[in-house]
Amino acid sequence: MTARAILPRVDGRRLLERLRALAAITATPGRGVTRLAYSAEDVTARELVARWMREAGLAVAVDPAGNVVGTRAGAEPGLRRLATGSHLDTVAEAGALDGAYGVVAAVEVAAALTAARIRLRHQLAVVGFSNEEGARGTPGMVGSAAIAGHEVDLSIVDDEGWVLADRIAAAGGDPARLADAAWPPLAGFLELHVEQGPVLEEAGVSVGVVTAITARLTLDILIRGRAQHAGTTPMAARRDAAVAAARMVLAVHGLATEGAVRVATAGRVEVRPGVRNVVPGDALVGVDLRDVDDAALARAVDLLRSAAAEVAAGTGTDVDVLVRSRVPAVPTDPALAGCVASAADRLGLSRLALPSGAGHDAQVLAALGPVAMAFVPSIGGVSHAADEATADADLVAGADLLLHAVLDADDLLDGPARPERSAADPVGAALVPPGARSCRNGERGR
Ligand code: GLV
Ligand code: MN
Ligand code: MN
Repeated sequence: MTARAILPRVDGRRLLERLRALAAITATPGRGVTRLAYSAEDVTARELVARWMREAGLAVAVDPAGNVVGTRAGAEPGLRRLATGSHLDTVAEAGALDGAYGVVAAVEVAAALTAARIRLRHQLAVVGFSNEEGARGTPGMVGSAAIAGHEVDLSIVDDEGWVLADRIAAAGGDPARLADAAWPPLAGFLELHVEQGPVLEEAGVSVGVVTAITARLTLDILIRGRAQHAGTTPMAARRDAAVAAARMVLAVHGLATEGAVRVATAGRVEVRPGVRNVVPGDALVGVDLRDVDDAALARAVDLLRSAAAEVAAGTGTDVDVLVRSRVPAVPTDPALAGCVASAADRLGLSRLALPSGAGHDAQVLAALGPVAMAFVPSIGGVSHAADEATADADLVAGADLLLHAVLDADDLLDGPARPERSAADPVGAALVPPGARSCRNGERGR
């Protein structure tokens, strides 16, 4: 085997150590990882990742949205940038991998390229996005939206009464300069993530090649009844907001069980004043709807509004359904997804094409250029929970996969590779089984 036939690899042991180090940065030790967007833990994690980025030879900056971005020059400065990464924030009491895995793996990819002295044609950007989850009651994907140049409503108030602009400023961002976080069009964006569902594990497959990322719509159902004495108010005279909320939760559930949308969740229910001997006067039901068909979500909102009118009439309350955020479904780019597939084949990893039921920063970055995603199996399909896990071997294999997908994308995007890039390419063409490298085999798509 010649020197150029050696397949470059990430440092798997360090990848796992770093994932453990990030998981230790939590507001809820012993109860999973809680690194809510813009919190002290989120900022500490960002600083640690920035240090790892510098060690990997990247030039690092935190942008006005609080994203951490590490860049590495390319051999062809005229080319658009190739980017990879994921998010550093978590939901409450989450696992160690949702988001963090894609960031740490991307840093390890940059470190492996630097260690192997591989210069890509494209500039490479590694990103740790801020506030992907929207777990504090703002819309999610705020960091990627700023990078995509989308307008962000900075005046929105989160579940704790904080204005988004103040959260960003408190975390070292600069909301007044948010527009400066915007990037020019991209050559491509690759995101590695845990599947967060059971498909890969059940199929016994190592890698998921994502075909499309789900649309997501969040809603608040606001209910106004009348707070009254729980002992003296006759049942027929009540305008009980909790009863209306319960009926709306069932209406949300029914959207999915009756086939209007793929999944529907009422993940937050609040009742005020929340006292046993007071008939509830107000309630809020926070809702999340998902489908790969944007039109299905639009129809579901109409159905929910009809249900709200019925519930209001039946309970003597006012029920309003307000859309809080809407992220459209996004197909991944077939050519860039082909790079994930070709990398999997080269590394001998079995693969399966599947859609993503979770939202991801990649779907926002799609506004800037082609995107693709790779998944590794989630044990028991669990995520957004403290017992989220993936086998160590799968985590390391996924990071190697990302490295090779980046190499292939660097060759594929923006036309044929320069001859000198091919000569320096440590991934020898002779290593690859015929037909396995659809990405390099001219599936250029653009
Ligand atoms: C974001 O991670 C989501 O899909 O909820
Ligand atoms: Mn998540
Ligand atoms: Mn995620």
